[in-house]
Parts: sequence; structure tokens; C-alpha cells
Amino acid sequence: MLRLAELFNSIADDLEEGARIFRDELRSEQPFIRDLCEHIERFHGKQLRPALVLLTGQACGGARPEHRVLAAVVEMVHLATLVHDDVLDEADIRRRSATVSRQWGNESAVLLGDFLFSHAFRLCSSLDDQFASQLIGRTAVTLCSGEMMQVSNCDNHDLTEAEYFEIIKGKTAALIGTCCLLGARYADADERAVRRMNEFGVGLGTAFQIIDDLLDLIGDEREVGKSLGRDVDKGKLTLPLIHYLRTCTSPRRKEMLALLRGDNARRDGQIAALLADSDSLEYARQTAHKHVRNSLDILAELPPTEARTSLTAMAEFIVARRQ
Ligand code: IPE
Ligand code: IPE
Ligand code: MG
Ligand code: MG
Repeated sequence: MLRLAELFNSIADDLEEGARIFRDELRSEQPFIRDLCEHIERFHGKQLRPALVLLTGQACGGARPEHRVLAAVVEMVHLATLVHDDVLDEADIRRRSATVSRQWGNESAVLLGDFLFSHAFRLCSSLDDQFASQLIGRTAVTLCSGEMMQVSNCDNHDLTEAEYFEIIKGKTAALIGTCCLLGARYADADERAVRRMNEFGVGLGTAFQIIDDLLDLIGDEREVGKSLGRDVDKGKLTLPLIHYLRTCTSPRRKEMLALLRGDNARRDGQIAALLADSDSLEYARQTAHKHVRNSLDILAELPPTEARTSLTAMAEFIVARRQ
């Protein structure tokens, strides 16, 4: 299995600088805010989004001071969405630790998410030009719209594949696309390259969420480091289940729908068993691969550099990951 840390060798200093900007931005005199911020800084995640800003920057001509600020901005937006998402999903574990909502309650988690969003916008607006602020603002709207579409489809067992893709493009792929777009744009890449890097990121983000949803159904909670099984519990239909309900026999469909509607403790195992006995898990995996392949084709348009090699490896990590 690929190790992410090795892929980040060429951007290690810039990632560190982005993390410093992140910490400085959130500094507060208030002890309670300090406690919350210490918690989120201590349990950091994979840092995929800041790494994408920096690597696409390098791959498109070179990372500049703006890239480091933007690395902090995108991680802040991402973290705000995670803190809020754990309230929505009633999740207990995130990044191998207690979720903010679990440890401090929903009120604190809602406010911390708002605090992070607000700081992200403030930090972004400190850049000389308004391009990033406008794009981050638009992306945050798209992200919230994706989550809202998901909430409004809670317990909708007729959710179509097209609707599923609309949700995940909004809630996940848009921000990952924005990371790559910003990386290219602030490296002064030409208009076409900026557009293509956005497409690269959207493909990567789409595959990323498909795999995340697969892990939610069949992953190992200790390996993944966050609460799993939340999608089914919250009535969120994801790609393997959408495919299963569309392609299975009528008695199987009835059986699966009864499991999805029920709340017995053993149903997760039974749902996973029915899926394992079908080709729906493989269908989801292949769909993720298809999106990654498209992203890799776009990457091949860039000149060969160490950063491009790391981006290629990151794309491969995304479909092979177990965490
Ligand atoms: C989790 O994202 C949320 C999704 C979009 C699936 P990550 O898996 O990148 O979370 P961290 O930052 O590593 O915790
Ligand atoms: C992704 O949704 C969360 C956001 C994009 C905000 P999930 O609910 O699937 O994310 P995890 O699995 O909890 O990380
Ligand atoms: Mg969640
Ligand atoms: Mg998930």
C-alpha cells in the first residue's frame, strides 16, 4: 500500500507552513476556543486537500506564498464540513479520536464549524486578489447544497445514480476540484490548464467519495479511524446499494429494503453479506476506477515532474485506500 507521507516529500516544507498559517489563524484568547482548536490540530487527517493545492501548484509551474495560505484555507473549509457532518451523522469517531460533537456536544460542534468557515473566508480574503475568495465562496455554497440534497433524500430508496452523483459532486468533488484549480491558477497556468486541473480534481473527488461510501458499508472502523455504517443508519443510499436495488431479483430487493428500513443490530452484517454476494461492490469500485482513469489522462497533459508523479500516486491511493 502506498504511503501518503512519501508522496508529500516534495511539498513537506510548504505543508508545514500551511499548518502554521492554519494554527495562527485560529489563535484565540478564549480558553474554550483554544481547547477545541487544540483538539482539531492534534488529530489532523490525511491533508489531501492542502497537498493537492501545493502539488498542482508545483506541477503547473511552481508553488508561491499564496499556495500556502490557500492550503490552510481549503483544510479549514474541509474541517468545518467534517465537524458539521458528524453532527448530522451522529458520529462518535473522527480521525481516530472522539468527534467534537461527541466530546463537547452539538451546540459546540455547530459553532466550531461556523467558526472554521468564518476564519477560512477571512484568511482567504487576506490575499491581494479576489479570485480565490470568490471561488471558495461559490464552492462552499455548492458543498452545502450537496449536503442539503442528501438530507432531503433521507430514506429515499428510489434515489437514482444520477442523483447520487449530483450529491457527491456537490458535497465532496467540488472542493477537491477547487483545490486543483487554485493550485494551477496561482502558478499562473493558462486558462485551459486551470480548467483541466479542475476537471482532474472533480474526477478524483468523485472517486474519493465512492470509495468512502464503500468503506462506510464494508470497511474496518479501526483501520478507517472514523465511525462507519452511518450512511445506512441515516437513510443515505450510496452507489453499491443503488446498483443492488436496481439489478437484483425481486425477492432480494424486498429483503434488502426490509433491512434498510429496519433497525436491528445485526442488519449491517446482513446488508454487507447480500452485497458481497452480488457484483454491486465491484461495480462501485470499477466506477471509481473509471473516474480516476479519466483524471490520470488529464494529468498526462502536464510536463513530467516529481509533483506530477506524486499526483499520479495520489490518484492511485484514492482507489486503493482503506482509510
Ligand atoms: C472525509 O475526507 C470526508 C469525505 C469527503 C469523504 P477525508 O478522508 O479527506 O478526511 P481527513 O481529512 O483525512 O480526516
Ligand atoms: C462527506 O460525507 C462529508 C462531507 C463532504 C462534508 P460523509 O458523511 O460520507 O463523510 P464521512 O464518511 O463522515 O467522512
Ligand atoms: Mg459522515
Ligand atoms: Mg462517508
